[in-house]
Amino acid sequence: SYKLVDDFDYLFKVVLIGDSGVGKSNLLSRFTKNEFSLDYRSTIGVEFGTRSLNIDGKIVKTQLWDTAGQERYRAVTGAYYRGAVGALVVYDVTQHSTFVNVEKWLKELRENATDRNLVVMLIGNKSDLGHLVAVSTEVGTSFAKKESLYFMETSALESTNVDNAFAEILTRIY
Ligand code: GTP
Ligand code: MG
Repeated sequence: SYKLVDDFDYLFKVVLIGDSGVGKSNLLSRFTKNEFSLDYRSTIGVEFGTRSLNIDGKIVKTQLWDTAGQERYRAVTGAYYRGAVGALVVYDVTQHSTFVNVEKWLKELRENATDRNLVVMLIGNKSDLGHLVAVSTEVGTSFAKKESLYFMETSALESTNVDNAFAEILTRIY
């Protein structure tokens, strides 16, 4: 028998949320295409990316959804969250306000997500900017613990922990 090139055993919808400029689109492009862009173009509407990983001998295809942090460029909220089995809530470790706003993103997520077993991971991105850190690893860790979220610090620029973060959330979903 022939195996389709796009064959998979599981298809998981995972959404990216967080303030504008925290690096959601670059996490997506790093994970799905191993690409990074230094210039900043805010996402308008919704962008998608997919990548298949082999987890325990099964092909797990992830469909990543990415929208703008800024209200005026955002997608329709209900449709964006509907059916998601995973969510990455991203802040920028150099911008404290983006960490404060995680509460707001979690609230929106909890109000709109439809899957009862939704797996949520908190991501502190831009860990390469060590000298500019405004939210320490300890502060991120303890907030994640309080909210019962998985937690990881990443750098889309240096490719640090990006694959690990996705592997972790997919393993939890699976
Ligand atoms: P919106 O689409 O407006 O919601 O923003 P976004 O969260 O998608 O941010 P985006 O990925 O467009 O990145 C914003 C800026 O941060 C860009 O200039 C990126 O190059 C930069 N950036 C993203 N990730 C990193 C990172 O890990 N380290 C550093 N130093 N810069 C990053
Ligand atoms: Mg974006």
